[in-house]
Amino acid sequence: MTASNAASSAPVDPTSTAAWEALEAHDLELTGSLREWFDADPDRAERFSLEAADLHVDLSKNLITPETMELLQRLAREVGVEQRRDAMFAGEHINTTEDRAVLHTALRRPVGTPDALVVDGQEIDRDVQATLRRVYDFANAVRSGQWTGVTGKPIRTVVNIGIGGSDLGPVMVYEALRPLAQDGLEARFISNIDPTDVYATTEDLDPETTLVIVASKTFTTLETLTNARLVRQWLLSGLRENAALTPEQEREAVAKHFVAVSTALDKVEAFGIDPDNAFGFWDWVGGRYSVDSAIGTVLAVVLGPEVFEELLSGFHAMDEHFRTAPAEANVPLLMGLINVWNVNFLEAETHAVLPYSQYLHRFPAYLQQLTMESNGKSVRWDGSTAATETGEVFWGEPGTNGQHAFYQLIHQGTRIVPADFIAFATPNHALADGDQDVHELFLANFFAQTKALAFGKSAEEVRAEGTEGPLVAAREFSGDRPTTSIMAPKLTPSVLGQLIALYEHITFVQGVVWGINSFDQWGVELGKQLAKDLGAAVAGDDAAIGSEDSSTASLIRYYRSHRES
Ligand code: F6P
Repeated sequence: MTASNAASSAPVDPTSTAAWEALEAHDLELTGSLREWFDADPDRAERFSLEAADLHVDLSKNLITPETMELLQRLAREVGVEQRRDAMFAGEHINTTEDRAVLHTALRRPVGTPDALVVDGQEIDRDVQATLRRVYDFANAVRSGQWTGVTGKPIRTVVNIGIGGSDLGPVMVYEALRPLAQDGLEARFISNIDPTDVYATTEDLDPETTLVIVASKTFTTLETLTNARLVRQWLLSGLRENAALTPEQEREAVAKHFVAVSTALDKVEAFGIDPDNAFGFWDWVGGRYSVDSAIGTVLAVVLGPEVFEELLSGFHAMDEHFRTAPAEANVPLLMGLINVWNVNFLEAETHAVLPYSQYLHRFPAYLQQLTMESNGKSVRWDGSTAATETGEVFWGEPGTNGQHAFYQLIHQGTRIVPADFIAFATPNHALADGDQDVHELFLANFFAQTKALAFGKSAEEVRAEGTEGPLVAAREFSGDRPTTSIMAPKLTPSVLGQLIALYEHITFVQGVVWGINSFDQWGVELGKQLAKDLGAAVAGDDAAIGSEDSSTASLIRYYRSHRES
């Protein structure tokens, strides 16, 4: 299969490949434990540790042997992962159900990359750079105080209104790089249609110094447009109260306080936002892959264009690694394949992501959309039924909080929960408790957890500590609980970009093996449609309530009878 026909070709049923058959046999024959494998092979850690840009990735505590990895790479070859990767980078329409190219990687191609990318007649590099320049000019104007609110005050708070990919990426990156925010400038985020979100986020804000970014790829999303209208109402009534506006200023207020990011600039205008104050992107950027597009405008404003550029350079470094590294050293490829091994052969159902970095506390939530909206599907890109289990449930919390909550199940439960542990050598804030470097305490936990999960504690070891009777079993740890450790020198904008791109490409690899189009999301449509259809019933129309199923009708009646005005 060549890259040029990869987009239109039917997915290969992975279970029909020779590699799959060999993996099944290998799974049955595999004996030993991580303890034994480490004892037998003193080079195991080195053998399974890889570098990708600034990331050091240790795969050795997974339930893999060199043969497992060879067979998984064979599987990748037999299902055509490389060809589909090349087709993606080249802009082929691998998003088959929407007949679109998938080009988030083009958003981070540096200026001057040779062989300008032209796809479907669009000069991609030129358009990406032109938009970035507009975003940066706008960001600099706000940061310098040249762009002010309607009453002439500089902007102090940027409120991003968006949901899903128009929220999770910006929030996650803002939280991760918070120390780099310009003094006196903060970002806030409104996503939920629960009115509490708008209320609580705006409650203590001064409309005169607030800038609102309405971020929506489609500009049709109910939550975002409703919240944008609510905030416009809040802003205008606040401005009227605080500062007696002239009629001229009233007209100007929305233009000075509202900007938009969307692929649908006509809808932005219809909403009442001046298209001059709108930043575009394109249908070849999926929502959950869009934080590095103009959707990141809030980040460029609050963290600055230089930070945003550094973030993009990190993404690009990982793209280049994924595009060019040989299979045996290709970290996203191998991590994606290990996930397939865990899901399809070891029967893992979930996957924990455990950042040992407080600033990455929204990273698991971000990954939930990236991975589960991408690969939570039962049909393949040609409409046939998936031949295997697909997307795992991603979840996680920052260490060490998770240790005191759910690690019990990961250590001693009956389910296998593969986990990615992420940590940084240098802390964002080095603090000492007396002579104790607190980051070292933190990292000792990071190292201890993967060690305990891999090697466990045998009954003999428990007895050797003086424990007898039924308590022995309770204190025993089986070990052989697979983990990947990802380390980097420091959580910088570039390293964050690398981490995000790493998971984007891991998700892609899994999707290709399973034959899934990882770039559509039809599964979110039914609920949206039904919510619209239920409007009349929720508002109290008895006939509409009566036509509902008995559970839905009774829940709506409960609501109607308990709602306080
Ligand atoms: O409903 C799911 C979804 O379409 C996501 O894929 C997307 O990130 C989110 O809604 C928000 O969409 P938009 O950016 O168009 O408002």
